[in-house]
Amino acid sequence: MTDPWASPSQPRRGIDLAALGVPPGRYVHPDLTDFLVKHDGDRDGAARIEACLAGKTDLASLQPAEVQFIRQHFLACAEEQRQKAIAFFEKKVPRRYIGAQPNPVARAWAQAVTTNSEETRSLLVVGPTGTGKTHYAYSVLRAIAETGSRASWAAHTAADFYAQLRPRAGRDSEATFESIVGTDVLFVDDLGAAKLTEWTEEVTYRLINNRYEQCKPSIFTSNVPPTQLRDVLGERIASRLTEMCERVALKGDDRRKGMAA
Ligand SMILES: Nc1ncnc2c1ncn2[C@@H]1O[C@H](COP(=O)(O)OP(=O)(O)OP(=O)(O)O)[C@@H](O)[C@H]1O
Ligand SMILES: [Mg+2]
Repeated sequence: MTDPWASPSQPRRGIDLAALGVPPGRYVHPDLTDFLVKHDGDRDGAARIEACLAGKTDLASLQPAEVQFIRQHFLACAEEQRQKAIAFFEKKVPRRYIGAQPNPVARAWAQAVTTNSEETRSLLVVGPTGTGKTHYAYSVLRAIAETGSRASWAAHTAADFYAQLRPRAGRDSEATFESIVGTDVLFVDDLGAAKLTEWTEEVTYRLINNRYEQCKPSIFTSNVPPTQLRDVLGERIASRLTEMCERVALKGDDRRKGMAA
């Protein structure tokens, strides 16, 4: 099966996407027959574009109409990529959170992740039950999709994560673990919701330590008040979360109570 997220051929040197006002990405090259059709068979122009696409010249060697042609092409590619990312998000997001819209802070974090993921601190969304932590996390994932990023993402509740990893005959738990931690942006919901056993603490430690070591952006949510993080999750996990995460504290009443008819 073809991977819809596989990168098409990458534009080579010569095309400065930023100078064209095109978001970073890997886009297919324009079809020069389209240029010839639109520009009365202007073979010189097509040859200049071709040289630029091949990295032999740069944008300055092109006429304004030629720059405009490739700019429009790459902008259309970027928009197509963005629509695909949004459609993929909407296919995967749980129904309840499909309407979660990012606020400016969530958008800024998403932008930082897509431009410089290794330098971007993860998020620890904390707050009492029903204050909107899961909603916020999905709004952030939507914001990432809306940038048109090709970053892979996955969402698991901590409880589901443990369930997937429990040793079972015929299941390679280690491969499951690797596939979960290997995603570009990982959302783990409800850390510390249940009392940790020795096994869940070890698995949680491995998960967080892996993301910590790889400097990969993650979104964690927890009901555990920050002052109790060490007691509930253990020293090693709490210490890493403190260093690697920016905290988003949600306050207020349980929104679910307000929704009850
Ligand atoms: N900003 C928001 N705007 C509109 N609805 C919201 C918002 N935040 C949360 N909600 C809604 O409030 C309800 C509770 O939100 P959510 O499930 O995110 O809470 P939570 O903090 O994750 O709760 P828990 O701690 O029990 O997991 C959901 O129905 C959610 O869709
Ligand atoms: Mg929740």
